[in-house]
Amino acid sequence: MGKNFEFKIPGKNESSKEILGSVIDRRQFIRYGFNTAAGVLAATFGVIGFAAILMPGGGGGGGDLAVKYWAKGREDDAWYGSKHLQEMKLDEFTAEAAKSVSGMAGASGIWNGVPVNVVYTPHQENKSKALEINVPRYQFGEGYDATGKYVGHFEDLSEQDPILNPESGVLISFGRCPHLCCIPGWQLVSNNFTEDSWAPGGTEEGGNKLFCICHSSRFDPTALELNENRNRANGQTFTYAGIKKVGGPAPVGIPMIPAYINGGVIEGMIDYIDWLTYCD
Ligand code: FES
Repeated sequence: MGKNFEFKIPGKNESSKEILGSVIDRRQFIRYGFNTAAGVLAATFGVIGFAAILMPGGGGGGGDLAVKYWAKGREDDAWYGSKHLQEMKLDEFTAEAAKSVSGMAGASGIWNGVPVNVVYTPHQENKSKALEINVPRYQFGEGYDATGKYVGHFEDLSEQDPILNPESGVLISFGRCPHLCCIPGWQLVSNNFTEDSWAPGGTEEGGNKLFCICHSSRFDPTALELNENRNRANGQTFTYAGIKKVGGPAPVGIPMIPAYINGGVIEGMIDYIDWLTYCD
């Protein structure tokens, strides 16, 4: 799928699409129980099923759009280690990003009981600069299904629904790998794919990939495309805005969850929860 990927790099004078003022008009919350400790343990052994991770009665709350940090087991090594279950705030990500070489920052989180990853990219700051190493911005491209069939372009969806444009620089992605449903993460391990660096093109080049430790799938949280996957419960296929798989056995990218910055707090919008059904 990566061979034919062509990016549309945002133009110099391209105006921002306003999403921060979007109104959330549907508040139908999903309530998955989630036990991250079990998830990480299963991921470590490399064999996992969705049911092994999503357990009834787990933590994570519900009825709340705010994304919360999930730092269990990483209290000492993650930058957000002391913020377990606190609401994520945009200024915390920008402060952390300012300390990095690439200007990016990411964290594991939980949102309405489902695992997510949140990555900040200084898109507004960089979108008019020369495209080069460690000047990250979003890249909008074409996507393919698991068989390599062309599905469409990210903008096919985002032009219909501007809330999909991550103009705030915050990207929330579902925390389930499209391979076998493990939990990818931000700098969970240390290797070339997770180092603090960025390269344009949505390829294996550069670090800052979301990395799935089960079988080493990698996803570029700055490369957005259109994907297709299958609802496990009813067998129906669906298309979705996804972050690009750049390596490993995952067949397609990971769905994004539209973000909303509410008084500085990072919230996820519930408009596309049907995209989260491929492991269910
Ligand atoms: S579950 Fe196999 S790479 Fe993620």
